Amino acid sequence: MVAPCTHASATPGRRRLDCDRLFDAARLAMRKVYAIGIGTGNPDHVTVQAIKALNRVQVVFLLDKGDDKADLATLRRDICERYIEGRPYRVVELEDTPRDPSVPCYEARVAQWHERRLARYERAIAEELADDAAGAILVWGDPSLYDSTLRLLEAVRQRGHVSFEYEVIPGISSPQVLAASHKITLNRIGGAVHLTTGRRLASAAAEELDDVLVMLDGECAFSTIPDADLDIFWGAYLGTEHEILISGPLAQCKGEIVRARSAARAEHGWIMDTYLLRKRPAS
Ligand SMILES: C[S@@+](CC[C@H](N)C(=O)[O-])C[C@H]1O[C@@H](n2cnc3c(N)ncnc32)[C@H](O)[C@@H]1O
Repeated sequence: MVAPCTHASATPGRRRLDCDRLFDAARLAMRKVYAIGIGTGNPDHVTVQAIKALNRVQVVFLLDKGDDKADLATLRRDICERYIEGRPYRVVELEDTPRDPSVPCYEARVAQWHERRLARYERAIAEELADDAAGAILVWGDPSLYDSTLRLLEAVRQRGHVSFEYEVIPGISSPQVLAASHKITLNRIGGAVHLTTGRRLASAAAEELDDVLVMLDGECAFSTIPDADLDIFWGAYLGTEHEILISGPLAQCKGEIVRARSAARAEHGWIMDTYLLRKRPAS
């Protein structure tokens, strides 16, 4: 917050100018955090807008998710090296502890995990960014989709312990890459698309939806739902050199997807997959 300007000045017009300058200086001095969508694993997904933002920051914050996901941290570093040109920047790693499996309630488990992340972000912004500096958080895919960065930044801002502003740079999300790789549109003409998680798929399927886009499905929920009139368009490691695509009638493909998923996960140590379930029109 900028305190109101109270100093005296010879003339009202002059005084307004002085105040404007003070406000501008304060605005310029404000810390800034860019939440930058970086796409889903292909450095070419990074937009020109993202590159311009990257070239304004002094600090890049990286969430360290452990060895299993070292590939993802390496990609983020590669993006910085490739696109930040001729200016120094620091990489600050923020350790990300996993959710505590001993907390039985899912919502409580996520809330605790977010609280720990919030404290970490707050400390990092306060301690690592000078008053007039800018930092970047590189967000997988697009920040608007199943990602807590924006909620956390707003919560840190609302707590008011550290003042900063933030800006969101959109990125290419996994549903977009899925659609491009399979050469499909996500909706049918004038139709709706239901976006959900593996955990919620069973209830979404029960709602008689035509097109359902599923993310965050570690349990292969597609293999447990009635499959008679559904096609699946499945993709893993979308946008990366390891991309795997399988599509066809769910009844025929689900076994192959479960096997491919488990083999790829064993090989790489991690997997991210997304899929569209499409109801076949009644013939
Ligand atoms: C925490 S969410 C993040 C989503 C991300 N913000 C986005 O815009 O795609 C992680 C989920 O996104 C999907 N996902 C992200 N990257 C992917 C990729 N390269 N290939 C397939 N699915 C991906 C998976 O469903 C994964 O479980």
